[in-house]
Amino acid sequence: MTGTSLLLTLALLCSCTQLLADANSWWSLAMNPVQRPEMYIIGAQPVCSQLPGLSPGQRKLCQLYQEHMVYIGEGAKNAIKECQYQFRQRRWNCSTVDNTSVFGRVMKIGSRETAFTYAVSAAGVVNAISRACREGELSTCGCSRTARPKDLPRDWLWGGCGDNVEYGYRFAKEFVDAREREKNYAKGSEEQARTLMNLQNNEAGRRAVYKLADVACKCHGVSGSCSLKTCWLQLADFRKVGDLLKEKYDSAAAMRISRKGKLELVNNRFNSPTQEDLVYIDPSPDYCLRNETTGSLGTQGRLCNKTSEGMDGCELMCCGRGYDQFKSIQVERCHCKFHWCCFVKCKKCTEIVDQYVCK
Ligand SMILES: *[C@@H]1O[C@H](CO)[C@@H](O)[C@H](O)[C@H]1NC(C)=O
Ligand SMILES: *[C@@H]1O[C@H](CO)[C@@H](O)[C@H](O)[C@H]1NC(C)=O
Ligand SMILES: *[C@@H]1O[C@H](CO)[C@@H](O)[C@H](O)[C@H]1NC(C)=O
Ligand SMILES: *[C@@H]1O[C@H](CO)[C@@H](O)[C@H](O)[C@H]1NC(C)=O
Repeated sequence: MTGTSLLLTLALLCSCTQLLADANSWWSLAMNPVQRPEMYIIGAQPVCSQLPGLSPGQRKLCQLYQEHMVYIGEGAKNAIKECQYQFRQRRWNCSTVDNTSVFGRVMKIGSRETAFTYAVSAAGVVNAISRACREGELSTCGCSRTARPKDLPRDWLWGGCGDNVEYGYRFAKEFVDAREREKNYAKGSEEQARTLMNLQNNEAGRRAVYKLADVACKCHGVSGSCSLKTCWLQLADFRKVGDLLKEKYDSAAAMRISRKGKLELVNNRFNSPTQEDLVYIDPSPDYCLRNETTGSLGTQGRLCNKTSEGMDGCELMCCGRGYDQFKSIQVERCHCKFHWCCFVKCKKCTEIVDQYVCK
């Protein structure tokens, strides 16, 4: 190979990886487990340059806060799991496509579903980092330093080691939003609209974690008399965060970009969204058919419920294409008997159940 053709090949390679990098995101940290930092030589940069999906700003943050990366990955993984749970009975089921683009091309559409995905991922990062702080896993943060709530009874102690939601919130804002803040699109452009949409939904996700964190207490005192209580700030179960964001998804606001470069309501009879609300700028595709362009996987082969009239019902799930019935064998524990003392013995029962899948 001559020198010039080698250069040309390199240049081509580089522009390809650039394109790939645009399609993927820090979400891929969920799929490619981040190695624990102690496995690397201190100060070595390779960790951050090898992680896929980071924007330049995120790569810099990675270099400064290498030990955080494992938890960002965990947060993203949790978020994906929660998203799949919340959408398990819907046409779009939050399935991941591959390691690099994670959710695939559907995220290019500024839909409600995309809004939810951004929010829940940002929430996942706040959650994971806040907990890691409390557990003493990070050198830049520790227990929560939230002030004692005013309504806490006077004789209860405030001071257990709490989840550091303040730090989690701030770090997630820096890291997750970095990608959007690096862009500089023309005011009023479609790209700017999408950037503002992402920022708003990231914020709503972070706030959901913040809002649901609550005071937890433990009893002390002579033989459990509970004469003394110690209390601290504790994260809510992530399911609750998912539930709240799902409600926000249902009431998400349709927006468009104004010439001045601000998001505004499409229909101004509705209330303006607060920072806790989700917003979207594009209508959702129907997700019925597989479409390579939009990245929709379609619902062919999905299980549906013959008697339900909801989104999980065969009519809606299969988009009127009809469904196939098949029998499946389910094994369950049954005729359980309690034996003194102390175990439960069960039999295995098999049952043949009808199941339905979309054509
Ligand atoms: C995706 O990630 C999984 C698990 O980390 C790995 O086994 C698989 O090889 C990866 N696939 C691609 C295409 O990178
Ligand atoms: C895929 O979606 C695009 C955009 O909605 C549409 O124009 C196209 O016709 C679809 N392709 C197929 C094969 O359905
Ligand atoms: C979601 O739907 C796709 C496409 O129908 C299917 O292949 C996938 O298994 C489903 N994923 C989950 C988590 O149910
Ligand atoms: C199907 O839907 C009906 C009505 O909503 C519900 O009672 C039933 O439990 C569902 N079946 C399954 C297998 O989810």
